[in-house]
Amino acid sequence: MAVMGGTGVLAERTALVTGAASGIGAAIALAFAEAGARLCLVDRAAGPALDEIRAQCAAFGNDVVALHADVSDEADVERMFADAREALGFVDVLVNNAGILTESHIVDMSTAMFDEMISINLRSVFLCSRIALPPMLEAGFGRIINIASQVGQRGGAGLAHYAAAKAGVIGFTRSLAREVGGTGITANCIAPGPINTPLGGTLSEEWTKSLFAGLPLKRSGEPNEVAPTAVLLASIPGGNIYTGQTLGPNSGDVML
Ligand SMILES: NC(=O)c1ccc[n+]([C@@H]2O[C@H](COP(=O)([O-])OP(=O)(O)OC[C@H]3O[C@@H](n4cnc5c(N)ncnc54)[C@H](O)[C@@H]3O)[C@@H](O)[C@H]2O)c1
Repeated sequence: MAVMGGTGVLAERTALVTGAASGIGAAIALAFAEAGARLCLVDRAAGPALDEIRAQCAAFGNDVVALHADVSDEADVERMFADAREALGFVDVLVNNAGILTESHIVDMSTAMFDEMISINLRSVFLCSRIALPPMLEAGFGRIINIASQVGQRGGAGLAHYAAAKAGVIGFTRSLAREVGGTGITANCIAPGPINTPLGGTLSEEWTKSLFAGLPLKRSGEPNEVAPTAVLLASIPGGNIYTGQTLGPNSGDVML
């Protein structure tokens, strides 16, 4: 198939975005499309949402493919990358965004709940990064952008499993950045604060009320207020000298 890119700051880029059917992933996909990137959009959710986002991205005039896959499943991740490469060639930007949120105090938390969180929110970042890296190393260019969370930096009562997974993502990203330093590949995290998406709606009212009151900006963010940070990290020269960093579009919740 003919590979078409657009004009704009990401016109030379081919990006794979996980969790692209909703929320922050969908906003990143749209911002990347507007900036000219070719795209592979991935989500495990059945239903029309992924295809609707694919159509909105394609309206910018670039090649966009949509794939259903579970990023915590090793075989699915292998199939997904093989299909993405067959359709679009070299994937030089990976956005590990797919994630879930559940809530329980540690004393009540089942092992299954803890394991599911680590598998989807942390193990998937390892699986997707490992398979994305060899062609990036060969090409001498790559951008890996991992969506962490401010909860991984500050912790959250009822969210120990989520905080552990997201702190793990930050540690994984720093290690990756050191491992590939000097090869042309960078790896960074975005750690959003509370953002208006279906995911945030799963939290108890008690948690969100106390969190919002403590935010310096006194409000949560919108997905399109996170996406420009991903565009920056994927872009040349804007993203060139960020690596191992955790950027925080977080309403001031965590200040580093
Ligand atoms: N919304 C927030 O307040 C907030 C804050 C900080 C970080 N984050 C992080 O941002 C990322 C996106 O969250 P969101 O708020 O946009 O949530 P969302 O629920 O709107 O979107 C998440 C998407 O990921 C997909 N997904 C979940 N598990 C998957 C899997 N195993 N394989 C493939 N796709 C999968 C879902 O189907 C969904 O479409 C997550 O990693 C989340 O932890 C969100």
